[in-house]
Formats: sequence, C-alpha cells, structure tokens
Amino acid sequence: MRRLGRWFLGFLLVIAGALGALYGYTALRFNRSYDVATRPLTLPTDSASLARGQHVATAIGKCVDCHTADLGGKVFIDDKALGYIVTPNLTGGPGSPVAGWALADWDRAIRHGVRPNHRGLAIMPAEEYQYFTDADFTALVAYITSVPKVDRSLPGRTFGPMARALYVAGKLPLFPAEVVKHDSVGRHSFPEGEYLARTGGCFACHGVTLAGGAIVGMPPGTPPAANISTTGMINWTLADFTTALRTGKRPDGSTLKAPMPWKLTANLTDAEIEALWNYLRSGNYPSQAGGPKS
Ligand code: HEC
Ligand code: HEC
Repeated sequence: MRRLGRWFLGFLLVIAGALGALYGYTALRFNRSYDVATRPLTLPTDSASLARGQHVATAIGKCVDCHTADLGGKVFIDDKALGYIVTPNLTGGPGSPVAGWALADWDRAIRHGVRPNHRGLAIMPAEEYQYFTDADFTALVAYITSVPKVDRSLPGRTFGPMARALYVAGKLPLFPAEVVKHDSVGRHSFPEGEYLARTGGCFACHGVTLAGGAIVGMPPGTPPAANISTTGMINWTLADFTTALRTGKRPDGSTLKAPMPWKLTANLTDAEIEALWNYLRSGNYPSQAGGPKS
C-alpha cells in the first residue's frame, strides 16, 4: 500500500513537471512579439465603400461567421482540454477592445494577425486576410466602424493542456501571424476567382489542394470538407455550383452541412460565383507545381 502510494506520488510529480514545462514553454511561444510595418492608408467615407465593406465582412471574408451577425462577438470555444477563446466585440461599444483603434491597429489585427501590443492573435484567420487589397481592407474597416455599437464584455482567452500539447506537436497552428508574409501585405494582386478563394477561406477548410478531408483545427466529429478541386464536383455545372453556394443544396438534393458557410456565400454576386467556379475548375492553385505563388 505504502509502495503504491509512493509510486502514485511519483507519477503525480512527473505529470506536474510535464505540465509545468508545457505551460512554461507555450507561454513563451504565445507571447512572441511581432513587429510589423503597416501601410499609410486612409478610411473611405463614401457609401459605395461602406457597401463594399459590408460585402467583404459577410459574403467574402465571413467575419460574421465567428464574430456574430451584430459583430459583438461570442464565446467561441469553451472546452476544458482546448481552452476558452472568445471572438472579441468589434463594434467599439462597452466591452469592446477595439474602441479608439487607429487604422494601423486594424491592419495589424486583420491582415497580420497581431494585436496592438504586438502579440499574436489566435485562430483569427489572418493567413487568408493577408491577401485583402488596401481598398477592400479600408472599406471593411469603414463598414465595421459604422455598425451600431454593441454592449458586450467577454473575458480574455486561456488555452487548455490539449491545445498546448497539440500546438507544440505542430498539429494545431494557433497563431496565423507565424505564417503570414508580413512584408507582402497590401502588395498582392490576384484575378477575381483566386482572390475570392484565398480571402474566402476555401483553402483553409478544403485544404491547399482543395481536395477536402478533415479540417485542421476543428473538433473531432466535424464533417470533413468536400473535394472541390478539378477531381471533385463531377458533372456539376455552374448552375449547380451557384445553387449550392446560394441555398446549400447539392444537385442530388442533399444539404451542405456546417461548417460549410453557404448562408454567407449566398450573398456572393453571380459574377463572383462564376469567377470562383472558373478558378476552381482551372486547377491553377498555389499548391500546384507552376501555380500562382506568394
Ligand atoms: C474563424 C473565426 C474567425 C473569423 C472568420 C474572423 N475572426 Fe476575428 N478573431 C477571431 C478570434 C478567435 C479572435 C481572438 C483571438 C485571440 O484572443 O487571440 C479574433 C480577433 C479579432 C480582432 C482583434 C481584437 C482584439 O481583441 O485585439 C479583430 C480586429 C478581428 N478579429 C477582426 C476580424 C475581421 C474584420 C474579420 C473578417 C474579415 C474576422 N475577424 C474574422 C476569430 C475569427
Ligand atoms: C469553415 C469551413 C469551410 C469554408 C470556409 C468553406 N467550406 Fe465548402 N465545405 C465545407 C464542408 C465541411 C463541406 C462538406 C459539407 C457536407 O459534408 O455536407 C463543404 C462543401 C462544399 C461544397 C459541396 C461540394 C460537394 O461535392 O458536395 C462546395 C461546392 C463548397 N464547399 C464550396 C466552397 C467554396 C467555393 C468555398 C470558399 C468560398 C468554401 N466552400 C469555403 C467547409 C468549408
């Protein structure tokens, strides 16, 4: 009995030591400081830019998917093993961390994935938003700063042991700022279809080859993404693709499951859906040898 007790104490000490090392090491990595140069830009005030900004926040960039329809934010993950992560209130109302932000602060957060204090933002998909043009980025901020202020306070983030272990093992890329090409922000220019695929999260969920499969960072049990590359959507026409992105219905009548954000792609224009379709059919993806780079 005594031997067993001592063994158990030893076991607890090993666990405590491992957890201590894990928390210490990840705390260092999580607090990495990013010094990014932002571009000298000005906020547009015309109504066309505001309308474009709303389109970017909903149909294209889908901010409302995570930050909620009123942009007031919500508890995004609440899990003992993974942690507690919120999508912050973006409206500037009471409880919002963005009140009084300069345009450079927005740029750092949205296109670089970095907070005003230079620390990395977790999960916020800057690896996609780094491709926003200056015009779309400034229209987006003009729109966000024009929405009604929401009074919603949400606590700060904490990461659980599982998220930390997966992160250290390279299985959970928590910080987009680690992969954003900071010096290229604002210098990209892509054809429409490719722009919509890059900034719209198609690659993030459907994979770099768009062949689908398990979505990185999603909890177990999440439906895998479908194959939307040239070897997928066999016998689909542009009309079928349009119906799927607008109504969530496949040609066989089945419904696209979450997290496919078809309620947001529903707001893409006919011309945008056609550009996306032609791009997906072209197979000219960044992962392709000889495909577009940067
Ligand atoms: C996949 C979910 C997701 C999407 C989509 C998303 N965000 Fe976020 N965003 C987050 C999370 C999570 C955080 C908090 C990160 C943290 O606490 O480290 C965040 C943080 C932010 C912040 C920083 C606020 C602060 O506290 O410093 C801004 C600004 C922001 N998001 C703007 C946007 C905009 C604009 C869009 C659309 C173009 C967008 N987000 C889309 C998940 C998302
Ligand atoms: C947040 C993750 C996510 C994003 C972002 C996303 N998808 Fe999906 N998509 C999915 C999932 C998951 C499925 C499979 C749904 C199911 O099994 O019913 C899917 C299915 C589809 C389908 C149905 C294909 C078929 O053969 O069944 C199409 C078409 C599609 N997505 C297009 C797109 C396009 C285009 C984009 C970018 C504009 C995009 N998706 C962005 C997760 C996503």
